[in-house]
Amino acid sequence: MKTVIEDPRVLKAIKNLESPRSVYLVVSSKGGVGKTTISTLLSIASSLEGHSTGLLDLDFVNPSTHIILGLDPRVIKYIEEKGVKPYRVFDNLYYFTIVSYTMDNPIALRGGEASNALWEVLAIIRWNGVENLYIDTPPGIGDEHLDILYRLRRRVKPIIVATPSKLARRAIDRLVDILRETGYEEILFIENMGSGVLRPYAEERRLLYLGFIPYLSRLEESIGSIEKLLNEEVFSYVKAIYKNLRSLIR
Ligand SMILES: Nc1ncnc2c1ncn2[C@@H]1O[C@H](COP(=O)(O)OP(=O)(O)OP(=O)(O)O)[C@@H](O)[C@H]1O
Ligand SMILES: [Mg+2]
Repeated sequence: MKTVIEDPRVLKAIKNLESPRSVYLVVSSKGGVGKTTISTLLSIASSLEGHSTGLLDLDFVNPSTHIILGLDPRVIKYIEEKGVKPYRVFDNLYYFTIVSYTMDNPIALRGGEASNALWEVLAIIRWNGVENLYIDTPPGIGDEHLDILYRLRRRVKPIIVATPSKLARRAIDRLVDILRETGYEEILFIENMGSGVLRPYAEERRLLYLGFIPYLSRLEESIGSIEKLLNEEVFSYVKAIYKNLRSLIR
């Protein structure tokens, strides 16, 4: 009989992601649509609601969640204890990003290396005690992400972030097709820099529409300060989205 030996890191990653109640993978078909902004703000909203929350930056090419949080890579330190414990940003928010290792220098990872690095991180970071975990990802779906999507399909819930651009519609369609082919029935959807025009599209494609965030020109000024972000209009939209997320996902 043929025995299939699974990579131990994959098994470890699956085990690590079994402890949070919900694991959200924030994805998009295009770059610059607001994934990092939204995943970071959702994790803040969740933690302020009193839920123990994790934020994992899986964008190794352009990690940027720390910029939104206003964290200097030098202050982000992890405790190694049967794996790696994420960094506590404040009360309920736990965080992992590779910038504390790379010191924000760009890293060039080729196909196989990128996949190895992703599984390594997923296998060593321990999220026990965390209720909701938000994972920021790079734009598009590369082979290494397809692999993760497939193997973690029973654990993660994808959230697509998209802007209402006619040019992007085909790309969003393709992403939805990929997710469905990979085994994802339940796909969440957030419209960014829009006014709700993508709701009919989301409904037509049976995506769970969580809400929209309009284009907010003042947002840029608040990037890097949690305090400022909390007082910006953007946060009221994110809180509404978070509320919908909680009511849709049981
Ligand atoms: N609703 C919004 N209104 C105005 N500006 C926004 C809004 N959402 C995001 N932005 C801005 O758009 C830019 C891109 O956002 P962000 O980095 O979150 O996108 P991304 O999808 O993570 O990009 P990448 O694909 O490169 O990782 C940032 O400068 C951010 O401040
Ligand atoms: Mg990003």
